[in-house]
Amino acid sequence: MRTIEWDDKKEAVKLIDQTLLPREYKIAEFKTLEELIDAIQRLKVRGAPALGAAGAFGVVLACINEKSKNAIKKEVERLKKARPTAVNLSYGVNRALDAAMSGRTMQEMKEYALEEAKRIADEDVAVNKKIGDYGSELLEDGDVVLTHCNAGRLACVDWGTALGVIRTAIEKGKRIEVIACETRPLNQGSRITTWELLQDEIPVTLIADSMSAVVMRERKVDKVMVGADRVVKEGVINKIGTYMHAVVAKEHKIPFYVAAPLSSFDLKRSYKEVEIEERSPEELIFFAGKQIAPLEVKVYNPAFDFTPFELIEAVITEKGIISINHK
Ligand code: MRU
Repeated sequence: MRTIEWDDKKEAVKLIDQTLLPREYKIAEFKTLEELIDAIQRLKVRGAPALGAAGAFGVVLACINEKSKNAIKKEVERLKKARPTAVNLSYGVNRALDAAMSGRTMQEMKEYALEEAKRIADEDVAVNKKIGDYGSELLEDGDVVLTHCNAGRLACVDWGTALGVIRTAIEKGKRIEVIACETRPLNQGSRITTWELLQDEIPVTLIADSMSAVVMRERKVDKVMVGADRVVKEGVINKIGTYMHAVVAKEHKIPFYVAAPLSSFDLKRSYKEVEIEERSPEELIFFAGKQIAPLEVKVYNPAFDFTPFELIEAVITEKGIISINHK
């Protein structure tokens, strides 16, 4: 199934619970906004485009469970704030909410929100295929591509952005290998990227984040390709660690690419105006339920970082490739 879907019979959001991968593949179902917000905050569903679809389906849940337009509007404000950094969550919520508000009855509001949410989900897959088409031209037969976090099927409704580019290049007959960075502290790279690539029999090698400088210096990487949570005026906000790989890639003259749908663009805003989600200290103090640091230690745990355009070769969108002029 897709990463996230609507179940018409049960009137519920269904999604692949990503916190359980790779040990267990389980579909979770949610019938209330409260449960969906909790799932978003725990990263059962994650990745900017998937959050866009989740936000839109969340509006449908609000339409089913609330009794007035005002109550729906109030509830979805909480949904938008569930994770503040990826712009797609608000984008999905706003589109479905606008559709809902054009309904006259509660039933119409639900129907309109659902139509829009399904449209957003379908569009995401089509957009990723287009990103794949454009981006695959940047990859050559035999390339080894380093990626960070998970910008694959599971970060989207299907196909993926950065990993979608790799999938399309392989579909076009190019031999591509991937180096997946672990992506501490929540290990989206080691848990999710490696799992989804192995499912598709795409060759992948796992490294710890701290190894990226060495693999780049040793010329074991031809290109870096990542996704984005938000593209702003001066660059790209993405998973913590992205900036580090971009600095290293620049030093070693390895092209650094970002693949992102236009729904992740927020060009009116500066990175300084975007809230970078800070997550719980427990994510660093514990690992897989085991304590790995003193309980009382002070922790800094931002979930995302900012990479300036100076370090980026090009941004791949569904409308084409934006090459960055470095003068
Ligand atoms: O905290 P996460 O797992 O939601 O972070 C995801 C990322 O940073 C992805 O790289 C980004 O959303 C792009 S996904 C196509």
